[in-house]
Amino acid sequence: MTETSRKKVLLGLTGGIAAYKSAELARLLIQDGVDVQVAMTQAACGFITPATMQALSGKPVFTDMWDARVANAMGHIELSRGMDAIIVAPATADFIAKLAAGHADDLLSTLCLARECPLLVAPAMNRQMWGNAATRRNVAQLLKDGIVVLGPASGDQACGEVGMGRMLEAAEIAAAAIACLAPKTLPGVRFLITAGPTFEPIDAVRGITNRSSGKMGHALARAALGAGAKVALISGPVTLPAPAGAEITHVDTAAQMFEAVKRHVTRADIFVGVAAVADYRVDKPRRHKIKKTDESQLQIKLVPNPDILGWVAAQPRAPFCVGFAAESRNLDQYADEKRRRKKVQLMVANLAQEAIGSDDNEVSLLDDSGTRRLARAPKEVVARQIVDHIAKLYGAKRHKTK
Ligand code: C5P
Repeated sequence: MTETSRKKVLLGLTGGIAAYKSAELARLLIQDGVDVQVAMTQAACGFITPATMQALSGKPVFTDMWDARVANAMGHIELSRGMDAIIVAPATADFIAKLAAGHADDLLSTLCLARECPLLVAPAMNRQMWGNAATRRNVAQLLKDGIVVLGPASGDQACGEVGMGRMLEAAEIAAAAIACLAPKTLPGVRFLITAGPTFEPIDAVRGITNRSSGKMGHALARAALGAGAKVALISGPVTLPAPAGAEITHVDTAAQMFEAVKRHVTRADIFVGVAAVADYRVDKPRRHKIKKTDESQLQIKLVPNPDILGWVAAQPRAPFCVGFAAESRNLDQYADEKRRRKKVQLMVANLAQEAIGSDDNEVSLLDDSGTRRLARAPKEVVARQIVDHIAKLYGAKRHKTK
């Protein structure tokens, strides 16, 4: 059982092809100990059957305002009462328009209007519908109304086009929902997180980078937000959607990341350096593309980049600092040396060859009290455990300095 055990979620499906991902979403939520009740619009039933969702959730699925199983024909009140969150996935452009306008002309829109809990929606639509001015207005209205909009992502679409509008993957939606249900252990605490790789240009078109996907840093941002923290995320080039609710700054180079960190750090209580920052950059990158010549060698001079984490930790009023150590061998020993050298309160150690780019991670947490090994798990789960650990250490530190 996890922290979300016995939490109740109403999972609403509207009519989009992405409804097939909602079956997996239901399964993931249940796996995490969430009690899932499904409601579907008539259009959703054209894409996936209520029988599938019933088999996965282990409960009858509601599709109709006038369902005789709900007492006093007050289905909307009955069903939304007692829910800890409602997730609408997929949320079509039409359903988003209904939410924005406050319509209640079917069971699901009525449940959303009658709710007392957070509402999360995962849009799914064709890229032109997503880009349409009406949808832009409607999504802006949802955000103003405090509704959490998850995604969408960019990629291949069922219509054969490529672009923005794909529903997030089930695991991403489940992670966001679980973060939303998580206990608020760090309310109002300000996190500054660096994530992803950096890109150090060689010339106008080439550069030096690494395989970091940014998944761990983004998962940490979501976990911190879930714990009630405020998050500023400085991300190198990644293809991930921005975590809902985070203030995101996009950068390419280590120098840009450093500048962005300097701008934000005085407002941070906790700094987490997850980014795989390039140790070196090209000295004087060329403005134009380097042409191939007959020379047998091309020399590129590299100069060291600033150590962002080391700099933050050395500030007179440094925030609580967390570093990540990716090593390919002697993991705990190197990570602990790094923790002491950089003077950070917590070092998260992982095997570089296993962690970078992967969806899972296996980490050790090294602090003054010793080493704690966490079991291999999806990065979203590992991120929540790291944030729980940070909350304990940070709470203890605050208590001591009071
Ligand atoms: O020194 P090393 O790269 O092994 O340390 C890793 C940790 O230091 C990570 O937390 C990473 O984000 C941070 N780091 C940094 N700036 C650098 C290099 C690493 O903030 N230039």
